Amino acid sequence: MARIGILGAGSWGTALAVLLVGNGHAVTLWSHRREEILAMEQTCRNESKLPGVILPREIHYSSQLEEAVRGQDLLVFAVPSKATRETAQKIRNMVPDGQQIVCVSKGIEEDTLFRQTQILEDVLGGVLTAELSGPSHAEEVVRQIPTLVVAASKSRELAVLTQEVFMNANFRVYISPDLIGVEIGGSLKNVIALAAGMSDGLGYGDNTKAALITRGITEITRLAVAMGAREDTMSGLSGIGDLIVTCQSRHSRNRMAGYYIGQGCSVREAMNRVKMVVEGVYSARAAMALGLKYGIDLPIIEQVNRVLFEGMDVRKAVLELMGRERKAELEHSFW
Ligand SMILES: NC(=O)c1ccc[n+]([C@@H]2O[C@H](COP(=O)([O-])OP(=O)(O)OC[C@H]3O[C@@H](n4cnc5c(N)ncnc54)[C@H](O)[C@@H]3O)[C@@H](O)[C@H]2O)c1
Repeated sequence: MARIGILGAGSWGTALAVLLVGNGHAVTLWSHRREEILAMEQTCRNESKLPGVILPREIHYSSQLEEAVRGQDLLVFAVPSKATRETAQKIRNMVPDGQQIVCVSKGIEEDTLFRQTQILEDVLGGVLTAELSGPSHAEEVVRQIPTLVVAASKSRELAVLTQEVFMNANFRVYISPDLIGVEIGGSLKNVIALAAGMSDGLGYGDNTKAALITRGITEITRLAVAMGAREDTMSGLSGIGDLIVTCQSRHSRNRMAGYYIGQGCSVREAMNRVKMVVEGVYSARAAMALGLKYGIDLPIIEQVNRVLFEGMDVRKAVLELMGRERKAELEHSFW
């Protein structure tokens, strides 16, 4: 049994608390909103995030960071990516050197272009970090629907520990040393999911969606490899696996936001209708900046940025993509 503090009691943090308690661990679930955590404690539900799910009594709830952080074998960072730095700063004095942290948030920080584990290392110094990622909607994991993910870390020991702690009969965890690849795949798929949602909103069909997924993973792979990732990570769970689920799923808030934009809503209206943080909107800008930094062409991501931030009409963005210069499908094709 491990002592685990989970920071962030949204859909994912709560679903993982259920999973980890079920695996026999001692779990403290923290939220920055006292009323949110009190309601969960009193009702054994997180009705707004996971409707209909009864939470096990063994979860310990807290709105005190000290209680959730001190003396834990493992910390799980499950706050929205925009809150990762701020939350890490709050716990800076509570975390010992060598603290093991599993990050499950996905996103690139706009100002620094850091991945989530880079932010944690930047703020917390000598901690050991892993990223757990893959096609894993909280709504399905909490119902024990078979799910496969990957735990990536520079430390093999932490990757193996993460596998041991999280894995069960319905939640299979692979390990990987490719932290960059796993984090970039998980972060940039949200931008492509916005494009997939726009396509749905415009009334396009399966052909367009499949094209966006296929060319989307090509873009993400080019950038990830330039950043030092392994190409084959992108064929894995955190690459194409997560991209497929996010572009197809009714649970995906990024796809839904794109859908409303495709239907004619403004970006602001679309975000309001989804009612949750749409991380792809922030990662879209960061992805463009990474493309510029590494000299990588990102045509779909570029058009998503134009729609989001320059008011470009979605149909015009499609025309631009379809009208690009003629090319070979694979970059280095020889006859
Ligand atoms: N939901 C999923 O199925 C899923 C799956 C895999 C990964 N993720 C990732 O997990 C992270 C969390 O997603 P989620 O779906 O649980 O989000 P959510 O919108 O359901 O909940 C976010 C929670 O974070 C808290 N929060 C908001 N702002 C905060 C702040 N400034 N400081 C501290 N806490 C704050 C809120 O109280 C809320 O409970 C995201 O990065 C997401 O990409 C989610």
